Amino acid sequence: MPSLRDAARGRILFGGDYNPEQWPEEVWEDDARLMKEAGVNSVTLGVFSWAKIEPRPGAREFGWLDRLMDLMHAHGIGVVLATPTASPPPWMGARHPETLPRTEDGSVVWYGSRQQFCASSPVYRRYAAALTEDLAARYADHPALTVWHINNEYCTHCWCDETAAHFRRWLRSRYVTVDALNEAWGTAFWSQRYDSWTEILPPRKAQYMKNPAQVLDFKRFTSDALMECYVAERDIVARHSPRVPVTTNFMPLWSGQDAWAWAAQEDIVSVDIYPDPRDPQGGQYNAMLADMTRSQAAGPWMLMEQAAGPVNWRGVNHPKPEGLNRLWSLQAVARGADAVCYFQWRQSRQGSEKFHSGMLTHAGEQGRTFREIKRLGAELLTLGPAVGGGDVPADVAILHDWDSWWAGSQEGRPSSLLDYAEVVQRWHRALWENGVVTDFARPDADLSRFKAVAVPHLYLLDDASIDNLVAYAQGGGTLVCGFFSGVADVDDRIRPGGMDERLRDLFGIRTLHEWWPLEAGETVECEGFEGTLWSEELEAAEGTEVVAAYRAGELAGLPAVLRRGRARYLSTLPEPAALRGLLGDVVREAGVAPVLAGLPDGVEAVRRGGLLFLLQHGRDTVTVPVAGSYEDLLTGRTVEDRVELGRHGVAVLRSTAP
Ligand code: GLA
Repeated sequence: MPSLRDAARGRILFGGDYNPEQWPEEVWEDDARLMKEAGVNSVTLGVFSWAKIEPRPGAREFGWLDRLMDLMHAHGIGVVLATPTASPPPWMGARHPETLPRTEDGSVVWYGSRQQFCASSPVYRRYAAALTEDLAARYADHPALTVWHINNEYCTHCWCDETAAHFRRWLRSRYVTVDALNEAWGTAFWSQRYDSWTEILPPRKAQYMKNPAQVLDFKRFTSDALMECYVAERDIVARHSPRVPVTTNFMPLWSGQDAWAWAAQEDIVSVDIYPDPRDPQGGQYNAMLADMTRSQAAGPWMLMEQAAGPVNWRGVNHPKPEGLNRLWSLQAVARGADAVCYFQWRQSRQGSEKFHSGMLTHAGEQGRTFREIKRLGAELLTLGPAVGGGDVPADVAILHDWDSWWAGSQEGRPSSLLDYAEVVQRWHRALWENGVVTDFARPDADLSRFKAVAVPHLYLLDDASIDNLVAYAQGGGTLVCGFFSGVADVDDRIRPGGMDERLRDLFGIRTLHEWWPLEAGETVECEGFEGTLWSEELEAAEGTEVVAAYRAGELAGLPAVLRRGRARYLSTLPEPAALRGLLGDVVREAGVAPVLAGLPDGVEAVRRGGLLFLLQHGRDTVTVPVAGSYEDLLTGRTVEDRVELGRHGVAVLRSTAP
């Protein structure tokens, strides 16, 4: 199977989305010159080129793309070539309005923006396949081609009639009979029983709360329907060029797409990461998404898009202060990225993204952003041979699952304040602040290589996953599980007792009486810390150790944190410092040491392929103790026992010990 290693060939790919159709051809030569100057070795072409290639149905205008492919090749720049199927031209919507998605209330999502396609539309799929076929046939053997990039951030949702028919086909293959569907969806409730398949619809706008199992299945279906579009195009390009790896870029930790399932269909896992430069947790957020993507890739991954400066889609869009783009880029490399790319090469002058930064901003080649880009490009060129392809060892896994996220994020639950992604991030942060590198894993994955496994919050767990967790803990693994987990089965049916019996036994919970969610800003006092967001009225089974009890309120005296053997259960979300302390105890006990002890606050240490990366997220100059003698690959200098890092400073150390 082709992989990122084939495309990168010991280098780190550096570049970005290139949208030359927005510029007169005389600018292209200038682009190529400046790309070379910046050390760019990879551009992504064609992402939004559908209307340019096929200006009217069936037409093909490839000449401009031929010239660009040749131009890039002449400059030694590889091309990640996109199938332009994310943004159908206006003629498609005008001639075939049935390709346009419809919202839950039936309104049409019109053209004039992008991504206005219904994944279930046979007409859309036919045009997309025909164009992909011709694109692949034309460029499969082009020497500039390095990677196929299918579509872009698959994310559409549709509730139209075509989607309804497709949803019914998906449901038929899952349930076979309407009776089985009625049972799984619990349609005895509120007189929702279906008498035939034809009555079944996507969960459209309704009078009151929708059937949660129907909504859950629709989310599963939507992810699968989009994946069918991906697979269809992937198969076409793979047929023409079996040795060229294929990817599609994910939005990370995004609920619309089960990225575990999708990653299994890709040669390269790639992702678009946009931390907010003003977010004090931006560095940790970047680390978390890198860890998640590396885990989906089971190895090196591709940072397909990030911003060199501000984005334009937040309320207030902040530029990146000097050094931050370099820091976060090298952090991605430290955590397994073999490609550091951007949206986009040259900042647009027109269109909705004219205020979104590029590698080359409106300020041009004299601008600070481009200056910083050139520095980074040169550094990545040096690092490539030493770093590319290297593994990032991790002894701890965080479990994460889309089914659980989907089921647990619906209406009518104990607290709408419970935000799945936020809880996952809090747990990752606690481990990150302990200096521990984490992988992510599915709840049914083989966990045996991990010394400790953390479950921030998995509301829905199927039987196989529960057995997996129990076997892991019984086999000597250290397991720590957060509140409101193991509550629902695969159909979102509440398990007897409110939590699966196997898990209650594992953690030493005799009875789960009630969930007691907290208000925004409310805390509950526990022994040694404050809990937030959630609390639970639990009765411990005999022989269970109560690590910490609630100390105030209705639950005073009842267990907040329980432990049986190496399995712990946290029935609340401890405030950040306390969660850091608790998870620190867990990993220490499991024999997991931080990557480097004695780090100053804000400094991150990661090992990749035998190299030690040190990253200063803060702005002060700090001294990091590192026993021994090293070469800093970024400066070429030798360092002994300590490294000084300035604002957002980075060192990449290779031991010189014999
Ligand atoms: C996404 C898209 C890009 C661009 C950026 C802007 O990642 O894939 O086309 O719109 O967002 O941040």
